[in-house]
Parts: sequence; structure tokens; C-alpha cells
Amino acid sequence: MTKTISLKKPANLPRHLAIIMDGNGRWARKRYMPRIMGHRQGAKAVKEIVTAVRELNIPYLTLYAFSKENWSRPREEVEALMDLLYDYLKREIDELLGNRIRLRAIGELDRLPPRVSTLLFETMEKTAKNYEMQLILALSYGSRSEIAEAAKRIAQKCIRGELSPADIDEKLFASFLYTADIPDPDLIIRTSGEQRLSNFLLYQAAYSEFYMTKTLWPDFDKKELLKALHDFSRRERRFGKTSEQIYLKCTGSES
Ligand code: IPE
Ligand code: IPE
Ligand code: MG
Repeated sequence: MTKTISLKKPANLPRHLAIIMDGNGRWARKRYMPRIMGHRQGAKAVKEIVTAVRELNIPYLTLYAFSKENWSRPREEVEALMDLLYDYLKREIDELLGNRIRLRAIGELDRLPPRVSTLLFETMEKTAKNYEMQLILALSYGSRSEIAEAAKRIAQKCIRGELSPADIDEKLFASFLYTADIPDPDLIIRTSGEQRLSNFLLYQAAYSEFYMTKTLWPDFDKKELLKALHDFSRRERRFGKTSEQIYLKCTGSES
């Protein structure tokens, strides 16, 4: 008998799910196709996963779509990825509005080609009042430079006397990151079998759960998503405490 995956909604869902969408190039190579075909197929997977996450009522979804390091890929590939992003925004705006999804972006957005950033900012503005779900695209994103930038801005405030070094703590620091008003990711999924963060949400992932799957991003569908969510649902997140403490808190018998 083949193992069936429960398609039921898992009991404990993440509030914030983040995905490192990897493996488009390998998906295409396996089919003797150019890498761009993998990215095209990857965009279809994005649509399916956004819909599924919305249906599940998960309020925050962050997708790592383009890293700062990805700028060093061949020019034609970068251009093709920017075109795909442009097409995605053009095509999906009605879907985002209809499903009351707010689109946001994190990263060095000023590096995006002007026609892409103009459309991106327009889409963010049009969807800004949506509250049911936030779709956060990490574009031209690098976590180390996000952290370094935050340090720079804090230092400038200290020099201007607007902030005292004594005020700097974890919470204040986090408020200077792109993700200032976004909760930390509860679950980070990475597709394609790679086991690394690739400069993604280094500060925010301090207590995230990880789920790595060999499935390549273009093959990642709702069923695969539910598999990851069921796995997450079974985990015990202890945040440094003991199992017993967590159990007592759950049963409400904590003193
Ligand atoms: C992920 O797929 C998409 C981006 C990084 C933009 P890749 O393009 O990295 O695919 P692989 O890793 O080469 O298979
Ligand atoms: C990470 O994938 C970035 C995105 C998914 C957008 P990469 O394929 O660029 O990561 P590395 O270089 O293999 O670590
Ligand atoms: Mg890759």
C-alpha cells in the first residue's frame, strides 16, 4: 500500500511561512531545457502555493525569489528572471486584490530595473489595505547587508543623539530590519535538497523550524506543502525550555 499524505488541515499552522524556492535550473536541466524554462515553471508553482497558503489562512508568506548574490548570474538569466517577475505582477494583481492579499517586498529594491520596481511599488500600493494575508517577496535580498544597514542606521541615530547605545537591544535592532513589523518565520522550507540558508533571514530565523525537501521548486505543489506543514505541526518548539514546561503551559496547569 502506498503511503498516503493527509490532505487535512494540520492542527498547528505556522503564522509565518518562508520558502527558499530552489531547484528551477535543475528541473530544466533534467528535461534538457534552458534554465529559464525552469524559472517559468517555478512561477506556476508560486501561484499554486500562494493560493494554498491563502486557503489555509496562514497570514504571512515570504518567498525568497532573488538573492543579492543572484545578480552575479549570467546577464540573460537575470533579465529573464526580471521579466518573469514583471509578468507575475501584471498577471496576479487581480488575484491578489480578490483574495485580499497584501503584497510587500524586502531587499535592495532600488537595484531592480525601473519598469519592474515601478510596477512593484504600484502593486504594493494597490494592495496596501489588504489584511487577510501578506505575501512578502524577498528580491535582491541579502540578510548580512540587511543587518549591516540596520547597524549603520542605528549608529547614525546615536550620533545625532536620537538614540542612546544603552537603548539598543534585540527588539530595537529588529525594528531596523526590513521585517520590522513582520513576525519571525515559524517555518522555513527549502526545496531541491540543499541544506543552507543562502543569506536568507539570518537574524529572523533564530528559532525557526526548518524543512528541507529534495523536491525541486517547480514540482512543489499543494500536496508537498501539506506534507511540510504536517511535519511542522508535529514538532515541539521549546525555545530553550524543557518538554515538561511546554506540556504544562499547553494544559494550562503552569504555575
Ligand atoms: C531558484 O532556482 C531560483 C532562483 C535562485 C532565482 P535556481 O535557479 O537556483 O535552480 P538551481 O539551484 O540551479 O537548480
Ligand atoms: C537561493 O538560491 C536564493 C533563492 C532561492 C532566490 P540559490 O540557488 O541562489 O542559492 P545557492 O547559491 O545555491 O546557495
Ligand atoms: Mg539554486
